[in-house]
Amino acid sequence: MALQAAVERARFAAEARISAELAGVDLPVARAMLYAVRGGKGLRAFLVAESARLHGIGDAIAPAAAIECIHGYSLVHDDMPCMDNDALRRGQPTVHVKWDEVTAVLVGDALQSLGFELVSQADGDAVNVLALSRGLARAAGVRGMVGGQAMDIAAESAAGPPALTQVEALQAGKTGALILWSATAGAVLSGADAKPLECFGDALGRAFQIWDDVLDVEGDIATLGKAIGKDDGAGKATFVSLLGLDEAKRRACDLVTEACDALAVYGEDAEMMRDLARYVIARKK
Ligand code: IPE
Ligand code: IPE
Ligand code: MG
Ligand code: MG
Ligand code: MG
Repeated sequence: MALQAAVERARFAAEARISAELAGVDLPVARAMLYAVRGGKGLRAFLVAESARLHGIGDAIAPAAAIECIHGYSLVHDDMPCMDNDALRRGQPTVHVKWDEVTAVLVGDALQSLGFELVSQADGDAVNVLALSRGLARAAGVRGMVGGQAMDIAAESAAGPPALTQVEALQAGKTGALILWSATAGAVLSGADAKPLECFGDALGRAFQIWDDVLDVEGDIATLGKAIGKDDGAGKATFVSLLGLDEAKRRACDLVTEACDALAVYGEDAEMMRDLARYVIARKK
């Protein structure tokens, strides 16, 4: 199957599963939750599905839906006025703009809970499902996404530019942790050695955020579905702000090579994972 079709399939299955979980909840907050998980690229759902396939697991819809819930929650809160203050996401008004701030806070809270409910429903030995759930808690929390987001916001008002190693830590947290978890999900669920996918996911997560920062400069609003030029305006610490566009792109490219090489043990079977990695630094959205 071609990459694009496989990503679409994973995204669609994850959205359908989340929609099924919310069916019958007749509350505006539930409608806003569904709104918040729709329309993304579905890359994290794909990573879960594909790492599961690489390990002989046929159905990984629950953990794929789980990560799209956690990711969706992170975006809803990221867009709020107290964080990045964005009005456009995935080509639509952000949740706090379409509803209000209270709804946006609660949508994030409830998507996080739903994410953990879903990951606990993953198919697999209980001990592996527990490891996967614990890994998600760690990746989403203060040692992962939330910690990175806190560093990202703190850097905006810091006296001087941060060291490159600080930007690396910030990005590995805010973006890398959830991507790494997604890429390793199949190995963890089957109790296999997760090291190769861990190296892949780590490099991919770094490349992904560098490219997100590149698109903030070079992207087009209509294609991207979100505002551009925000990072410079807000004084964000990024590879682009520290090293310039060309060097940032070169680093992203090196990281993609590193990611692809990390999958050597899977041979040809991992070619679609490698295609995904190459897509990350070719994408326009
Ligand atoms: C955006 O992630 C936020 C970052 C971590 C940079 P995506 O670019 O994967 O967002 P969607 O899910 O496709 O909208
Ligand atoms: C967001 O990074 C990372 C998370 C939501 C955890 P950005 O703030 O750069 O993402 P965009 O550019 O708003 O999508
Ligand atoms: Mg942000
Ligand atoms: Mg943002
Ligand atoms: Mg960004």
